Amino acid sequence: MVKICCIGAGYVGGPTMAVIAFKCPSVEVAVVDISVPRITAWNSDKLPIYEPGLDEVVKKCRGTNLFFSNEIEKHVAAADIVFVSVNTPTKTSGLGAGKAADLTYWESAARMIADVSKSSKIVVEKSTVPVKTAEAIEKILTHNSKGIEFHVLSNPEFLAEGTAITDLFNPDRVLIGGREENAGGLKAIQTLKDIYAQWVPQERIICTNLWSAELSKLAANAFLAQRISSVNSISALCEATGANVTQVSSAVGKDSRIGSKFLNASVGFGGSCFQKDILNLVYICECNGLPEVANYWKQVIKINDYQKNRFVNRLVSSMFNTISGKKIAILGFSFKKDTGDTRETPAIDVCKGLLNDKAQLVIYDPQVPETQIFKDLSTPKFDWDQLGSTIQITEDAVKQSVKVVHNAYEATKDSHAICILTEWDEFKSLDYQKIYNNMPKPAYMFDGRNVVDVAKLRQIGFIVYSIGKPLDPWLKDMPAIA
Ligand code: NAI
Repeated sequence: MVKICCIGAGYVGGPTMAVIAFKCPSVEVAVVDISVPRITAWNSDKLPIYEPGLDEVVKKCRGTNLFFSNEIEKHVAAADIVFVSVNTPTKTSGLGAGKAADLTYWESAARMIADVSKSSKIVVEKSTVPVKTAEAIEKILTHNSKGIEFHVLSNPEFLAEGTAITDLFNPDRVLIGGREENAGGLKAIQTLKDIYAQWVPQERIICTNLWSAELSKLAANAFLAQRISSVNSISALCEATGANVTQVSSAVGKDSRIGSKFLNASVGFGGSCFQKDILNLVYICECNGLPEVANYWKQVIKINDYQKNRFVNRLVSSMFNTISGKKIAILGFSFKKDTGDTRETPAIDVCKGLLNDKAQLVIYDPQVPETQIFKDLSTPKFDWDQLGSTIQITEDAVKQSVKVVHNAYEATKDSHAICILTEWDEFKSLDYQKIYNNMPKPAYMFDGRNVVDVAKLRQIGFIVYSIGKPLDPWLKDMPAIA
């Protein structure tokens, strides 16, 4: 029986390994983590992350060929293949702060693998890492090994949160990078390929050299984020000209060279990866003497921040330039629908912007717990994060001005305005007439995800702002925004 150990039981490690165990009954998978609460949750009925379909997969395999444990060293020592899926956040201090990936967790995992291993292993980079990380990992492993062979592979993960299980069941591609130049490297590639081949068609398993695999992941995220910033930049022009961004992106996307996916205008992208990976790409470009390339990609993040600021400015200017003391309902806090993940969610910057203008916020999200919302709104941004909003709100101010509630009707009751910041399906089918009846007038809707039927809401009586859509006559008369 092939034994796999995955270090890191997070959004990637947990679902990825659950699907490998599900699809490969002859493989034993242990997912290990330093966090005791996380592992306890993986072994309970309430998994630590929300992902449609994940519960069923975990329940089917847990205790049979899928195990979650804090006994890291024991499982690493016993494994033939060790995946490393630890977090690789942006460095917050020292050289490269604000751009470079912080590989502290990765390095400590690699040192531990070298220390506890008594048999040869394939070590797989699952985390997103800077190109050339495998070289550093190889050095750590071989330097400390006792005649044991280690083969490092890069197998970046392309799943998207919210659709992780379907993405893993039916991936567009599986990418495996390795040392194609030597027999040991080729054998390691083949071993991992054999695992995926148990459910992924051969033609979708792509094998490359290590550096191509590492860089492909950074490039893929940069391209995806770039599409969102591109359509968001056009949304600003739509508002200025009377064009409709939905019509424009639909027409643009019909070109088969462009394609229709990832062309929805919104308040901005979020999630733990896009900004971090682009910053990392920018840093790598700078380190390789390519400032023009670095600046090109930096612009993707700048447009994202511009879009969030533009949304806040639009709201404030539409409401007679003051929202002080006004109650604003926030529908959705996670960075996208079908996940409870709030890392880099645009809702944080938008809410901070509104709090800075002294609004009273009532927030509802179907999956994000109250404690997480309070934590996100009172955590200061790092000094280096000059690109984004630098507004700092004290914990006390958050406590005084923010309330978290359990449904959309409670959130919107008596509110002067509604902001939709996540595209949860339930926001499409709310009873907006009832909501309107319970709001002071004029009642505003600021739809940051193009969820609502603008014409219908205007008919009800709402003043509606929807990203990139022709402006409500009311909004046209308001002062121009930056
Ligand atoms: P996460 O923060 O949810 O999980 C990482 C886990 O690693 C944590 O539970 C942490 O306790 C654990 N950990 C850290 N150091 C450890 C150590 N030395 N030993 C044992 N456990 C340790 O992070 P997430 O979202 O799963 O991301 C992991 C990597 O995958 C990152 O590099 C990320 O960029 C990449 N990625 C993330 C995607 C996503 O949608 N979240 C998608 C594709 C890639």
